[in-house]
Amino acid sequence: MSLQQRISALIRDVPDYPQPGVLFKDITPLLHDAAVFQAVISAIAEQAGPVDKVAGLEARGFLLAAPVALELGAGLVPVRKSGKLPSETYAETYDLEYGTATIEVHRDAFEPGDRVLIVDDVLATGGTAEAAASLVRRAGAEVHGLSVLMELTFLNGRDRFVDLPVHSLVVV
Ligand code: PRP
Repeated sequence: MSLQQRISALIRDVPDYPQPGVLFKDITPLLHDAAVFQAVISAIAEQAGPVDKVAGLEARGFLLAAPVALELGAGLVPVRKSGKLPSETYAETYDLEYGTATIEVHRDAFEPGDRVLIVDDVLATGGTAEAAASLVRRAGAEVHGLSVLMELTFLNGRDRFVDLPVHSLVVV
């Protein structure tokens, strides 16, 4: 079985969560499997170029970004939802299907010119990752790529990142 097939077999579809009509992609079965979890981290790290920092997107992105950062010998930068980071931040607000969301990063998270890989579990509309890329740039660093475990291609999130390498291990 290919890694893609092993990953797909361990992502659980949960209908009508968190609200009716939504098919939730639950990655917890994959995290429970040490061999596939390790293979996912290695695959994301192998796709990355040389980077100084890995930016992980709250909350499920943290679960992948931290081990990827360690494997790459890079620092980890948490990109958090509004109000969670204690020191001075930059904030970006972006549109959701209903309403808006805001994410933040510490202003001192990066050295000038740091090369940054953004890591998340899912690329859907791309709104979250696009806002994260803006935060990285506002904080003085360079976005070198976006890596996700899973890409929902029917939402065309990739189209927001024309000049950026976007890697996904599985597509839905
Ligand atoms: C999910 C997912 C991505 C984002 C993708 O996060 O983990 O971060 O949505 O959607 P988009 O491409 O349309 O922006 P969620 O907000 O559910 O947060 P969680 O990881 O804390 O559950």
